[in-house]
Amino acid sequence: MSRKVAILGGIGNATVVAAAIEHARRLGATDLEVAGFLNDREEVGKTLDMFPVIGRVGDAKRLLDEGYWFINTILRIDGNRERIALFESLELPDDRLATFVHPMAYVAPSVQLGPGCVVMPNVSMSPGTRLGKGCLMMAGSMIGHDDVVGDFCHIAAQAAVGSYLTIGKGVHIGLNATVRENLSIGDYATLGAGGVLTKNIGENEIWAGNPAAFLRYAD
Ligand SMILES: CC(C)(COP(=O)(O)OP(=O)(O)OC[C@H]1O[C@@H](n2cnc3c(N)ncnc32)[C@H](O)[C@@H]1OP(=O)(O)O)[C@@H](O)C(=O)NCCC(=O)NCCS
Repeated sequence: MSRKVAILGGIGNATVVAAAIEHARRLGATDLEVAGFLNDREEVGKTLDMFPVIGRVGDAKRLLDEGYWFINTILRIDGNRERIALFESLELPDDRLATFVHPMAYVAPSVQLGPGCVVMPNVSMSPGTRLGKGCLMMAGSMIGHDDVVGDFCHIAAQAAVGSYLTIGKGVHIGLNATVRENLSIGDYATLGAGGVLTKNIGENEIWAGNPAAFLRYAD
């Protein structure tokens, strides 16, 4: 029997992840079935891409009792700390966060994925790397070996992340960005789209460019 999954979020990460789950399901490669989205801005019942908004974020607790599983995609560059805190305040048990790996992804056998992680098509994850809970590896992104990644990180499409890295909580690595090996990235930090990171980034800092330089702090 399929596990019904409610995805927190809306057009963007949530619809993209939902479509990948549906694609995997049609290939017979996952037991997850998207029930719809939990979203505080869209009308309940409205269809976003393929699936309906089935409730507000606060409805997660009720859906938990009804047997649903959950994936969180509500991550932002500014205000990420508050958004992640909102998700954590729901206190959904880890064993009801659905981890999804698309069948077109390569995940080395020794990779450890926390609960609620999503691994999209054409991702490559090398051995010994560990992701915390609720991380999103978006399409075509790659991560090297022996990295330690905190909870709720977003590795955007086509980003290339090196090896032996320590990445904090709620970090965003932008579209097509590159991170050199042996660096550390603080909690809630961001590397902008296309950035090439050659230095450590501190907590809350946003860096961009090639080579990446400090731009500003996240709000
Ligand atoms: C880095 C980032 C967070 C900055 O956002 P912002 O603070 O709104 O920045 P602005 O657009 O106001 O730009 C400020 C300056 O930084 C520059 N800049 C912005 N993003 C840049 C980037 N990725 N690389 C190089 N320079 C960048 C702008 O050109 C501008 O320069 P100027 O002052 O000389 O005109 C954002 O541009 C970015 O790259 N976000 C990630 C996008 C992404 O990965 N999306 C995936 C989601 S699915």
